[in-house]
Amino acid sequence: MRILAIETSCDETAAAIVEDGEKILSNVIRSQIKQHAPHGGVFPQIAAKAHLDAIMPVIELALQEASLSLLQIDAIAVAHTPGLLGSLMVGVETAKTLAYATGIPLIGVNHIEAHLYAAIMHSKQRDFPALGLILSGGHSMLVKIDGIGSYSLLGNTMDDALGEAYDKVARVMGLAYPGGAALEKLALEGDPMAFPFKAGSSKTNPYALSFSGLKTQVFYAIRDNPHYNRADIAASFQRAAISDLVKKSKAAILAYDLKALYLGGGVAQNQTLQNTLKEALSTPLYAPPAILCSDNAAMIAGLAFHKKESSFELAAQPTGNFSLFF
Ligand code: KG4
Ligand code: ZN
Repeated sequence: MRILAIETSCDETAAAIVEDGEKILSNVIRSQIKQHAPHGGVFPQIAAKAHLDAIMPVIELALQEASLSLLQIDAIAVAHTPGLLGSLMVGVETAKTLAYATGIPLIGVNHIEAHLYAAIMHSKQRDFPALGLILSGGHSMLVKIDGIGSYSLLGNTMDDALGEAYDKVARVMGLAYPGGAALEKLALEGDPMAFPFKAGSSKTNPYALSFSGLKTQVFYAIRDNPHYNRADIAASFQRAAISDLVKKSKAAILAYDLKALYLGGGVAQNQTLQNTLKEALSTPLYAPPAILCSDNAAMIAGLAFHKKESSFELAAQPTGNFSLFF
């Protein structure tokens, strides 16, 4: 079964074709980063307009790269939640129109669940029950995976997502948006113990995440040390964030007797994070390659293979329902 998927939840216009949930036939991503960088973050109206301009050429390219015509497609999938309303609407309405005009079934997919599925799709391993760690620009959470489509939430972020914290820290250090990757690079040259930064915790849930206080500690350190070493700040911030994730992941794996860790989302590209988790865990770590960590439509097309057909009432929904991925 060949599924064409559309992804427009934030600032990437993407289309991909995946066969039987795993085999990627094409994966086209058009990033809007250049348009948003001058604003230091994603500007919603610019994002929606850029999606409108790019969506049809991107879909056409995805079909071309797979050497397929639209009528050789078995289902049209779209990320309909969560994300920016104007951005999501472009993808959802395009998918509905294509499905209506051709009679091809429509499938709505949750973007966050798809980030998790990227690691399952790429590894082709199903070591369940497992821990899922989703770390993106908008979401950060630990979930227990009992199967594809069967999850329970262990801990969510109480404030900032990790990618957001990376981007904000990078911004105060003068790095261009989105600064996550540049911050990781800078951290490699610094002393991770130079500053005693620490990520936050909840008194009631050992798996809840918090990065807002950590970000504030960084801001104060910069304010109080005018001649601060940027690499030391980056390395100490990253050490604090990663050691917190390692500690909470290990605790969850032990408490629930989990067989593996599946990592997903834009921050999952971070090699220091991947290497530290690998060293610390006794279970396998499955992380997708960079192209499947950040926003892409291949993960949407892959996951859609495991989902039911949607009706034309499918609507763009900016805030997702995490209890859990419906
Ligand atoms: O999943 P994603 O592409 O978009 C959302 O759905 O949010 O994640 C983007 C986030 C950005 O905050 C970006 O700075 C971060 O992922 N990111 C990284 C790295 N590469 C991208 N964060 C830390 N280290 C990296 N190497
Ligand atoms: Zn994402």
